[in-house]
Amino acid sequence: MLTDRTRLHIALQKSGRLSDASRELLRDAGFRIQSGKNSLTARVENFPAELMFVRDDDIPTFVSDGACEFGIVGQNVLEEFALSQAEAGYQMLAELGFGRCSLKIAAPEAIAYVGPQSLAGQRIATSYPHILRRFLMQNGVDATLVTMNGAVELAPRLQIASFICDLVSTGATLEANGLRPLDTVLDSQAVLIRTRRPMDKARANIAAGLIIRIEGVLATKESKYIMLNASSEALKRITDLLPGAEAPTILPLHGRPGHFAVHAVCQESVFWETLEKLKAAGASAILVVPIEKMML
Ligand code: PRP
Ligand code: ZN
Repeated sequence: MLTDRTRLHIALQKSGRLSDASRELLRDAGFRIQSGKNSLTARVENFPAELMFVRDDDIPTFVSDGACEFGIVGQNVLEEFALSQAEAGYQMLAELGFGRCSLKIAAPEAIAYVGPQSLAGQRIATSYPHILRRFLMQNGVDATLVTMNGAVELAPRLQIASFICDLVSTGATLEANGLRPLDTVLDSQAVLIRTRRPMDKARANIAAGLIIRIEGVLATKESKYIMLNASSEALKRITDLLPGAEAPTILPLHGRPGHFAVHAVCQESVFWETLEKLKAAGASAILVVPIEKMML
């Protein structure tokens, strides 16, 4: 019997850069999410889990406290939280490959910058004081931090600070505010985290199932199934060229003695250059197809 407390709670960003991709990842993992656009929670119909839609800044806290067993959050938010804590109450499980952005130093065009030393004695506005302080310390620079919770890009215009340190993804917000990026403090993407709080046996089993499914999705994202024909002399050269393929299947081609079909799962991206090299090595009829599901 699944009681409500047996359900896993997964914290996701309510609205923002990670929201859509986070839901999509769970959908790709086969979880059917009951919709209800504006509600703060959603049940997974075919798995004992419930999604909690919260502010991204709250996700590390909820997971560390054990209020949610899992969370999807940006490394920027996670790192800022970790630096503010004596001990991390969460464990990072996987980089998810979406929500890529960078924490950058930026300033109006007119402000000179030759490197971190240009920040000495300056005022810098940011929502990431811990990460910025570490960056300044690593560079041996002393500056005054102005902590803001949002709209950091306005600080130079309001003459609150000359520099800012904020998240940049497309760069549109910087440009709209007449700011130019000067230095990168941290590169970030979405990650999956789990609580370090112990789970009872029933939940630990459900949690293991969830991790396997998500790892499966991540593995298929990059992986491709590749099929080609080759003559026996070319086989060795060709199989050496297959990116991240272990033990390809080699089958004789009917009616063409000395010719084989090679089938392999490539665990890395297959680029056009790879196909050209395979062709040059003697491969023909090359097919690359996406993999929908995979359990390792
Ligand atoms: C960040 C940042 C900028 C914007 C930059 O906010 O504060 O406003 O994104 O993105 P762009 O380079 O694509 O224009 P975010 O969406 O993370 O909001 P939050 O800090 O309130 O969570
Ligand atoms: Zn936020």
